[in-house]
Amino acid sequence: MNKDLEQFERRIIVTGGAGFIGSNLLLLLVPKYPDYLLVNVDCLTYAANLSNLRPIENHPNYVFEHVNICDRSGLKECFDKYAVDAVIHLAAESHVDRSILGPADFIDTNIMGTFNLLELARARMEQKASFRFHHISTDEVFGSLGETGYFTEETPYRPSSPYSASKAAGDHLVGSYHKTYGLNTVTTNCSNNYGPYQFPEKLIPLIIRNAREGLPLPVYGDGKNIRDWLYVEDHCRALDLVFHEGTAGKTYNIGGSNEIENVVLVRRICRLMDERLGGGKREELIEFVKDRPGHDRRYAIDASLIQRELGWKPQHSFDAGLKATVAWYLDNEDWLDNCISGKYLKYYEEMYSNR
Ligand code: NAD
Ligand code: TYD
Repeated sequence: MNKDLEQFERRIIVTGGAGFIGSNLLLLLVPKYPDYLLVNVDCLTYAANLSNLRPIENHPNYVFEHVNICDRSGLKECFDKYAVDAVIHLAAESHVDRSILGPADFIDTNIMGTFNLLELARARMEQKASFRFHHISTDEVFGSLGETGYFTEETPYRPSSPYSASKAAGDHLVGSYHKTYGLNTVTTNCSNNYGPYQFPEKLIPLIIRNAREGLPLPVYGDGKNIRDWLYVEDHCRALDLVFHEGTAGKTYNIGGSNEIENVVLVRRICRLMDERLGGGKREELIEFVKDRPGHDRRYAIDASLIQRELGWKPQHSFDAGLKATVAWYLDNEDWLDNCISGKYLKYYEEMYSNR
């Protein structure tokens, strides 16, 4: 290994580091761990934005590699070039509605891309038997809950959408590499995140953007579907803990204990925007539209394992997190406007015009 690399205690590939959670994670890890080299591997899909990483782009322990995880030989070059000893795997196609419009990219990235990373990690075990592989996943793999109950680490997988099915396949592959090859894996299944840098196809930034423009606020079905929301910074602190201290072979559920019906959430966002911007009642813009096919009714996480074992708990209340999120998008209108390209408008038209 060359001297420049030897100075780093660890050399870690973070896939999907230019996306929503990846950016927030790198903004936490790069300054916190100057002795780690953090290699951001991202192919820059529509959901990526390298400008999120401006505050760290010149740090000596951060590098960006424009690589698609479906390209095994490109990935291998990266593993070799940096003598990588761990992967934190976030790269994914991540939006349920897009997976319904066209599942192919989800199968490629979320299944085949994960498989490529696992194969390269397995090969690196010859040099580094304790090669760490942290796979970031979602609570959506568990399917839908009724009115009561919570997802635990023991809940059987029942994915409903092509997105959640592709994530479930990735989770199973990771589990099998631990059982079969002894790869040092951890998997985390987290609830819905919200906060800065989320692409405005997801509910919260989409509602903020539309409310700002005076456009209809589309709420699927009867609006009573429930999600359990977690501020992205709390998720990233959990990832930091699990990566360092999680037990090999285990999975950990992460959630905010913030269950809220979609329509109630949308009204709250409207009120926060009315307070800040004035100009009338934005909740009058709400439109109930045709439901998403296979729409899961309720998600709720039992996060007691990570709380008990690793001492994690969320630090942001939902009230404070939502207020900060609305403020962030309104203070960063340029960021939001930069997402609204012709491609976004085409997607928006395709997704919402016939509902
Ligand atoms: P995102 O869509 O905002 O970002 C995904 C990133 O992955 C982008 O930068 C994109 O360019 C990159 N990427 C996609 N395909 C790639 C490929 N083939 N090769 C290299 N890079 C590729 O997603 P996110 O919301 O930040 O989610 C990150 C991870 O967390 C995903 O694995 C997702 O399943 C999981 N997750 C997300 C949430 C949530 O609420 N957003 C909740 C739980 C788990
Ligand atoms: P989303 O942010 O897409 O996350 P996920 O589907 O992964 O949970 O959606 C969150 C909830 O909001 C989900 O129940 C679907 C609903 N929703 C709407 O009602 N309207 C919208 O325009 C969008 C994008 C989502």
